[in-house]
Amino acid sequence: MRTQKERGVSEAEIAVHWQEEEYYHPSESFIRQANEKDRSIYRRFEMARFPGCFAEYAELLDWYRHWDRVLDTSDPPFWRWFAGGKLNVSHNCVDRHLADHRNKAALHFVPEPEDEPIQHVTFQELYVKVNEFAALLRDFAGLKRGDRVTLHMPMIPELPIVMLACARLGVIHSQVFSGYSAKSVADRAADAESNVLITADAYYRGGKLLDHKAHADTAVALAEKAGFKIDKVLIWQRHPGRYSSPTPLVEGRDFLVNELLKDFRGQRIAPEEMNADDPLFLMYTSGTTGQPKGCQHSTGGYLSYVAGTARSVLDIHPGDVYWCMADIGWITGHSYIVYGPLALGASVVVYEGLPAWPDAGRPWRIARDLGVNIFHTSPTAIRGLRRAGPDEPEKYDYHFKLMTTVGEAIEPEVWRWYYHVVGKDEAAIVDTWWQTETGGFLTSTMPALHPMKPGSTGPAMPGIYPVIYDDEGYVIPERSGRAGNICIANPWPGRMQTIWKNRERFVEAYYKRYCRNRESTDWRDWPYMTGDGATQESDGYYRILGRIDDIINVAGHRLGSKEIESAALTVAEAAEAAVVPVPDEIKGRVPEIYVSLKPGVEPTDELRRRLSDAVVSEIGAIARPRSVVIVPDMPKTRSGKIMRRILLALSCGEQVGDTTTLANPEIVEEIRKVVGRT
Ligand code: WTA
Repeated sequence: MRTQKERGVSEAEIAVHWQEEEYYHPSESFIRQANEKDRSIYRRFEMARFPGCFAEYAELLDWYRHWDRVLDTSDPPFWRWFAGGKLNVSHNCVDRHLADHRNKAALHFVPEPEDEPIQHVTFQELYVKVNEFAALLRDFAGLKRGDRVTLHMPMIPELPIVMLACARLGVIHSQVFSGYSAKSVADRAADAESNVLITADAYYRGGKLLDHKAHADTAVALAEKAGFKIDKVLIWQRHPGRYSSPTPLVEGRDFLVNELLKDFRGQRIAPEEMNADDPLFLMYTSGTTGQPKGCQHSTGGYLSYVAGTARSVLDIHPGDVYWCMADIGWITGHSYIVYGPLALGASVVVYEGLPAWPDAGRPWRIARDLGVNIFHTSPTAIRGLRRAGPDEPEKYDYHFKLMTTVGEAIEPEVWRWYYHVVGKDEAAIVDTWWQTETGGFLTSTMPALHPMKPGSTGPAMPGIYPVIYDDEGYVIPERSGRAGNICIANPWPGRMQTIWKNRERFVEAYYKRYCRNRESTDWRDWPYMTGDGATQESDGYYRILGRIDDIINVAGHRLGSKEIESAALTVAEAAEAAVVPVPDEIKGRVPEIYVSLKPGVEPTDELRRRLSDAVVSEIGAIARPRSVVIVPDMPKTRSGKIMRRILLALSCGEQVGDTTTLANPEIVEEIRKVVGRT
């Protein structure tokens, strides 16, 4: 395992980011109304009460059958939460709110074109739509409990409707972020063995109506080439009743959902009584190998955890209007746009487009017009909005009680703008650290109980017990401020169950390194490795320093170095590729790719463009490299490993440091000359 330093996060960088020791306090009015306003939550979740404490979250839900055991630990690390319990997620997120909130908006959909009216979907309407689509999935698409279905849907209200309809039937959904490539869709559909693809014809982004249906055609063709058949493509229309894609429909394979739905009007489907440990969904995410991992999340444990943490940390009350700007295609959107907030009966905003388009006032107009009072976003969006319109928020009359930041570390300077200008000195801020794998928050301040500290995520969540190890595997003393690899000592209900169809890889990726005894059935022997570096400060708050593995965090989104490198190597002329994460003012980090060519091939701009395009078509536009640097050879150790640390230093114009372990130290100066020319 490589250390922080080798990975490229220098001590100096850490020091610059993390000097501040300033605290900000939540307002009296926030504290008065907060869901958690005294410290009893930490007593309720203290270790002596583990695992029974987590029943408190499960009790927020409706169950058809109460669980027999809160935690079954017989097969570590495949722990089962609320074993024996039965529930349905769509009942919990929709049906049970009808009694009190039938006519309240469940979803507010804000289309990108500002002249298109905002759509308000009440809980009653959501109930009708979820039932009708569930009937279609069952009777037209032939899907049943336990089947998988791949979604490649943009940010339209039909995306949560589809997810909830799947949950109603017990069909496992696997939503692939709409900006990901057709190749990503094909690979994920094949891995999950899902023969049905649900997509949309088009969506708006940055003023353009994008043809989305074309990706479905490519995905089906690529899957078929790899020996997997997608036999039905269900297509939602961005403008119901009007097909908005130039890509023709394929007879017998493609079906317009809005047409099909006419046959399912008024149908009702009784929710399946799912076991707590039946899978709810898959979410593929980048790992340290080229192959993304299908993180499998459970029904009972997952929903309990996201509902419980949305209640305590996001402070959601049924009367709140909650807007999380993330895309539902990421875990943030699954947990904290759809499942957590709707389980609590909040009104949720779903918006189409980009944060600062057509101008940096758009988010604040949306907040004003819909009365948003909880706002959730990422440091990348905040940096972008700050640059595009630092004075925009004060022009609009809106009031947030709570704001969040998630996905990457936020610089204290950016945090302060968020607090003073966006939050108008009124809103409490939570900086939540977690992962696709963890289902929900791992560290955060409790907004009414703790002061906020810019750039620091706060203490561990109730019931979560982090432990930081050094590279030798020794525990770093608590509150020592020393950096190490942060792990979670105990199981918790939101954690993924396994990697889809790959138990060995799950154990390997998250448990192998720190497991004390593979034979042990005592969970204490199985700390979960997050793959992040962190420190715990003297006040008990955690600061997250970034990944210690080969994952790059671009604008809060995870990309695997290996995936990008493999994509570049699909270009025939490329011999070797190495990716480094270079700092970027808005996105935090962006990938830069170094490529060496096969003998006799000349570097040209056309070749650089093809290498860059290969990355986009294999993965998606978010992975587009800042630049492609063609080098005569890679800096390598004697055992032949590429030293990316040296490439990163060259990209950043920094000293390369010690090169004595290189087999070819002379290459460093040659590469420096090339970088200088790029
Ligand atoms: C990083 C996103 C600093 C971290 C929810 C983690 C953060 C990875 C924070 C997971 C934060 C997430 N401060 N870093 N508040 N939140 N990260 O799976 O490196 O897309 O391991 O889940 O993002 O990214 P993922």
